[in-house]
Amino acid sequence: MFAERVLSGMRPTGALHLGHYHGVLKNWVHLQSEYPCFFFVADWHALTTHYETSSVIEESVWEMVIDWLAAGVDPNQATLFIQSRVPEHAELFLLLAMGTPLSWLERVPTYKDQIEKLKEKDLQTYGFLGYPLLQAADILIYRAQFIPVGEDQVPHVEMAREVARRFNYLYGREADFEAKALEAVKKLGSKRAKMYAELRVAYQERGNAQALEQAQALLQDSQSLSMVDRERLFGYLEGARKIILPEPQALLTKAARMPGLDGQKMSKSYNNTIGIREQPAEIIRLVRTMPTDPARVRRTDPGNPEHCPLWQLHLVYSDSVTQDWAKKGCISAGIGCLECKQPVIDAILREQQPMFERAQMYLDDPSLLRSIIADGCDKARKVAQETMREVREAMGLAYD
Ligand code: TRP
Ligand code: SF4
Repeated sequence: MFAERVLSGMRPTGALHLGHYHGVLKNWVHLQSEYPCFFFVADWHALTTHYETSSVIEESVWEMVIDWLAAGVDPNQATLFIQSRVPEHAELFLLLAMGTPLSWLERVPTYKDQIEKLKEKDLQTYGFLGYPLLQAADILIYRAQFIPVGEDQVPHVEMAREVARRFNYLYGREADFEAKALEAVKKLGSKRAKMYAELRVAYQERGNAQALEQAQALLQDSQSLSMVDRERLFGYLEGARKIILPEPQALLTKAARMPGLDGQKMSKSYNNTIGIREQPAEIIRLVRTMPTDPARVRRTDPGNPEHCPLWQLHLVYSDSVTQDWAKKGCISAGIGCLECKQPVIDAILREQQPMFERAQMYLDDPSLLRSIIADGCDKARKVAQETMREVREAMGLAYD
């Protein structure tokens, strides 16, 4: 019903690594050619945990955007912006906060988990409790349909759905909704109006989901409707309420488990990462010094790939021929570990080369980066302002 829009955000808390690339950014790059995509830097979210060291955020913001662009996120296809440059997020957050039960926030699993995990930080703050509600505002303000996230973020998207539902329930009532909807139906023209009415009955009385879809498609390409009327008729299809904030859906990114330099999941907190823009010489050094099967003390000792962190990288980077070669060579002590590592090194360097080149363009000319973000912020802001106009109106805060 609303435009199919994809939205996702990332907190700027340090340089991105190949885990981010394989786990998130490759997916963004794929999505940007399928949907209108909004990708943003969640700098306010970073503040919820880094409020004592807020000055590191600025640098991370720009580094992270360069990493996105390096990975192939294309500013001509996707809209890239910074959360705090669209202050409407804060306004929606505040308005939603009025009616959001405290218990909804307290029961989000990440809340207690993170307080427990980040013990060195004092997260007993109002801001941290509000983290998922701010995220709900980020999502709902763009009326985004699809939210690509990892598994840990699914409860947050779930909460955004509940918040939207509650908002529509509380504020989607218009005193004369039905009368206005019927007026709007007339504007469809008699043939379409009749079709709309029939499809609506088919859905409401018989639960015919196909009829609902057909009616939505019919509204979608009715040129004669104003935006307000169109939304009214979308709402009227499903009930007697106007849908102001549509419910988003999580697009679960399939868990790409990117192994780090020690075979554990690649993560900053394990100190086992390869940066997206790591220097080639450093990549070579890092992989060469990676631990391997501890049983292979001497070159002549046979090994077992299952006990080797490097093997995990073969699984990501090598084709089956190379994997066979490594496995056989390892078990028979036919190859040495350095030899075994070489194809992995080559593959990482090959993957990273275009990223390195793309990043260089922005490092050479930072104004390019600033203008991409300025454009993105403008575009995002227009959409956000339009939503806020309707939100204020629905809540009775329009005053004119
Ligand atoms: N909480 C998300 C994370 O840590 C970041 C985020 C903030 C986000 N706002 C969002 C993700 C809106 C998707 C949609 O990864
Ligand atoms: Fe690991 Fe390859 Fe050495 Fe075997 S030969 S232990 S798989 S690096």
